[in-house]
Amino acid sequence: MTTVDLRTPAELADAERWTAHNYHPLPVVVAEAEGTWVTDVDGRRYLDFLAGYSALNFGHRHPGLIAAAHAQLDRVTLTSRAFVHDQFAAFCHGLAELCGKDLVLPMNTGAEAVETAIKVARKWGYRVKGVADERAEIIVAADNFHGRTTTIVSFSTDPDARADFGPYTPGFVVVPYGDLAALRAAINPNTVAVLMEPIQGEAGVLVPPAGFLAGVRELCTENNVLMIADEIQSGLGRTGKTFAIEHEGVVPDMYVLGKALGGGIVPVSAVAADRAVLGVLRPGEHGSTFGGNPLACAVGTAVVRLLETGEFQERSARLGARLHEGLTALIGKGVVAVRGRGLWAGVDIDPLLMTGRQACERLTERGVLAKDTHGSTIRLAPPLVVTEEELDHALAQLAAVVRG
Ligand SMILES: Cc1ncc(COP(=O)(O)O)c(C=O)c1O
Repeated sequence: MTTVDLRTPAELADAERWTAHNYHPLPVVVAEAEGTWVTDVDGRRYLDFLAGYSALNFGHRHPGLIAAAHAQLDRVTLTSRAFVHDQFAAFCHGLAELCGKDLVLPMNTGAEAVETAIKVARKWGYRVKGVADERAEIIVAADNFHGRTTTIVSFSTDPDARADFGPYTPGFVVVPYGDLAALRAAINPNTVAVLMEPIQGEAGVLVPPAGFLAGVRELCTENNVLMIADEIQSGLGRTGKTFAIEHEGVVPDMYVLGKALGGGIVPVSAVAADRAVLGVLRPGEHGSTFGGNPLACAVGTAVVRLLETGEFQERSARLGARLHEGLTALIGKGVVAVRGRGLWAGVDIDPLLMTGRQACERLTERGVLAKDTHGSTIRLAPPLVVTEEELDHALAQLAAVVRG
């Protein structure tokens, strides 16, 4: 095939011509995918080491998940929550048990689930804690990423995410991530919740100092404040445990889940909490047309079943150790620092060598897909079905890229 026959340039130009520029994608046009691999429109194959920012924890087109989706497509796909359907209870029951919580409220996107958690926390604050009307405060961390709605970007500290989208929603207090003293100082009688990522993904896979999450739990309990863990990117096996917060033996009051919950097939998100918290919602107070639809629930139930086996968590822990060993060996050889847990890593490339974007472009040329964040950092998050050979191959490509 000559360059003239390649479809990629025309597809990229068309996408550029017809869409808003809210993303800056790498120059790959995906046509097919299976497991850890994607194939572009010109037949080139790549190892997917981004996995949809953890939305593809079980790989592309996991056979069990695809079978569940197909079976449901042949029966019923949407009812709205005006009626109950026969996939709803099983999904909510399974997910509640996976989380060890009484109740689940399904939504679609991650941002919707975060919004749900914020609304529930505020309502809990007014109706249960006794905070005066309109005074509820939620504490969040600097460099957070919780989504893109106007309320969520109101408490972002990233100028790209926030600037020009005001006026901003009040009621949020930002403290440095990992700083317990700052958190303690920020809590007051109006504080209803602390909302944090147990590992900050978009910030560059930042793992908080040991003891931080346990300290947050203690402060929340002492002050009658809800601890909300946004596990949208870190949860569901990514770090070697079902939830990243488990690494510190901590149980939050509310889990916020998304991404992998939809098995890479449909958007499925949810919050999970005990009745004392989630029970504050009454009919008519919150909802979503597609939230908890039959297709989403059928796929979500199949995802929960996969996680119940523990197989994916074990793979992530075992192969994650191999990933981190390989990455650590590159420190001083073009890599400055490596962070993360399980099959999830933030890799700081020596900024004197290249930007994170350039590193990802060179990895793409070598058949490995990854994504940069904040200057010289790249994120690696392969599907949890990745094999040792695939992992070693990707590490060898990264080593070649940073050697220059
Ligand atoms: C921790 C975290 N929370 C929330 C979101 C938002 O999810 P969504 O893009 O599905 O709205 C993301 C997405 O990257 C995330 O990483």
